[in-house]
Amino acid sequence: MSKSDINSLMEKTEAWITPELERVFDSDLNDDITVKAASYSLFAGGKRLRPMMMRLTSQMLGIGDEIDSDVKYFAATLEMIHTYSLIHDDLPAMDNDEMRRGKPTCHMVYGEGIATLAGDLLLNSAMERLFLISEKNPGYIYAASAMAANAGIYGMIGGQSIDISSTEKEIPIERLIELQEKKTGALIEASVVTPYYLFKKLTREESTVDKTAIELRKLASHIGLAFQIRDDILDVISDSSVLGKSTGKDERDSKATFVTLLSLEGAESRLSEEINCAKSILSNFKDKGYNTTDYETLIDYLENRNK
Ligand code: IPE
Ligand code: IPE
Ligand code: MG
Ligand code: MG
Ligand code: MG
Repeated sequence: MSKSDINSLMEKTEAWITPELERVFDSDLNDDITVKAASYSLFAGGKRLRPMMMRLTSQMLGIGDEIDSDVKYFAATLEMIHTYSLIHDDLPAMDNDEMRRGKPTCHMVYGEGIATLAGDLLLNSAMERLFLISEKNPGYIYAASAMAANAGIYGMIGGQSIDISSTEKEIPIERLIELQEKKTGALIEASVVTPYYLFKKLTREESTVDKTAIELRKLASHIGLAFQIRDDILDVISDSSVLGKSTGKDERDSKATFVTLLSLEGAESRLSEEINCAKSILSNFKDKGYNTTDYETLIDYLENRNK
């Protein structure tokens, strides 16, 4: 797939999500230092891959037009949760990183106290948004609670917890997979499935048996692993000026990653396996008549991305 395709998908996503993100904080709060710090990180130049996946699921299933503004609202909410997770991940108490999205990390600019609050603010505001939209649309309650759960101890926070506690320890591959599925996979799952949950107004019980929901979660699981394996590889092979964050830090911090457990070659071959599994699920969607072209472009990008 040519490079311009993913670039054009990125441009479209940026144009779609930016106005929604600009509305997150009321303008009368603009003087508050914690709001400034949260906005600094929110607009520091992330790839917006999670909002992109929300658009792609909507498009593929042909549900985009009907509920576009609600999908966008949930996409901005997820991007807030993702950004909070990065602000906290970079703090000295966690990964102690000085560069993120090509810029100094939030705590380097605003100090650790305000950066901690900025992360808390993004998370709290995200939860408030989930309540507000569910109040208007009770059919969205499960989608909202699933997003909150995927950010919590059975999802992103659970993964970060294993990550921190596995530092300088040898862990089996199964535990690493659990770590990665939670720390990165859970928010990616929320990106891939939420538009469908919204469209169908699925309840918790329905989501466990709905065939499309099950297939989307499988797709998300392969995308999530592929994404984090490539992140681990890039930490070793990339350059911080391209990547926009410091490199070599997993080895510096003795982190358990796909590269430290499987070597670079092993990680690359596992990445190809995950990419192929994702493609095979997409081809099932294609066989059912769905348009998977843009999703395929994203999957190709994920295998070879440099940032
Ligand atoms: C980085 O995610 C953190 C991981 C889950 C590995 P992204 O690579 O999507 O970060 P941004 O949003 O583009 O900065
Ligand atoms: C963090 O994983 C993923 C989050 C939940 C924030 P990493 O620590 O590997 O992410 P980077 O490499 O700093 O972006
Ligand atoms: Mg980390
Ligand atoms: Mg980190
Ligand atoms: Mg990393």
